[in-house]
Amino acid sequence: MLRSLIFLLAVLSPALGRAADFKKDIAPIFKSKCYECHSEQAKKEKNGYVFDNLERLAGDIRPSGMIDPGRPGESPLMELITLPEGDKRHMPPGGSLSNKQIKLIREWIQEGALLGKKGAAKPSGLPVKPAPKPPEPAPEQWISTDGKAITAVFVSLDGEIVVLKMNGKPYRVPLAKLSEASRRQATQRKP
Ligand code: HEC
Repeated sequence: MLRSLIFLLAVLSPALGRAADFKKDIAPIFKSKCYECHSEQAKKEKNGYVFDNLERLAGDIRPSGMIDPGRPGESPLMELITLPEGDKRHMPPGGSLSNKQIKLIREWIQEGALLGKKGAAKPSGLPVKPAPKPPEPAPEQWISTDGKAITAVFVSLDGEIVVLKMNGKPYRVPLAKLSEASRRQATQRKP
């Protein structure tokens, strides 16, 4: 019973989408396998890489960085830990991460290489585009109670005042001065 439950959990947890967590899953790997030569704590910064200062680590997590968030295949760190042990660039030298550790790191990078809530790295390698400006609304015709028509852009309804824009200038027109159709035009629109 217990065994089948554990089995079920093991099968379900990836499906439930538990993300590899930096603090819980990844930092302990770096600590046991990499700190010795790459940490401020040990005062060893081989090739300038440290894994215990998250601000510095965050700087290596970027497109074309040592860790390319979302793209383990493009991340040199992934390559270093998966090279054959004989290769002199293999990390850690003279040893290897377990398959499970490698898998966790790959998943963590795939999921965006987040460092946790605080020092979270940007989740995607793509530059963030500013949201496009909504298009300027088209001018409409407005008719006053005495039958005069103007063409203006609706800006807002401010209580009993309709704010319209004509030639870039705002005009405040009391609702009472508009024909019934124009009043409806102003009051029935969504904000
Ligand atoms: C016993 C010491 C030692 C350990 C442990 C170690 N490294 Fe290294 N690391 C080095 C040395 C030395 C270099 C520089 C290698 C070179 O220039 O050829 C290096 C370089 C690197 C680089 C830079 C490579 C480059 O192309 O600039 C990265 C990234 C790296 N190691 C990651 C790791 C990771 C990840 C771990 C743990 C899984 C780790 N290292 C464990 C000694 C170590």
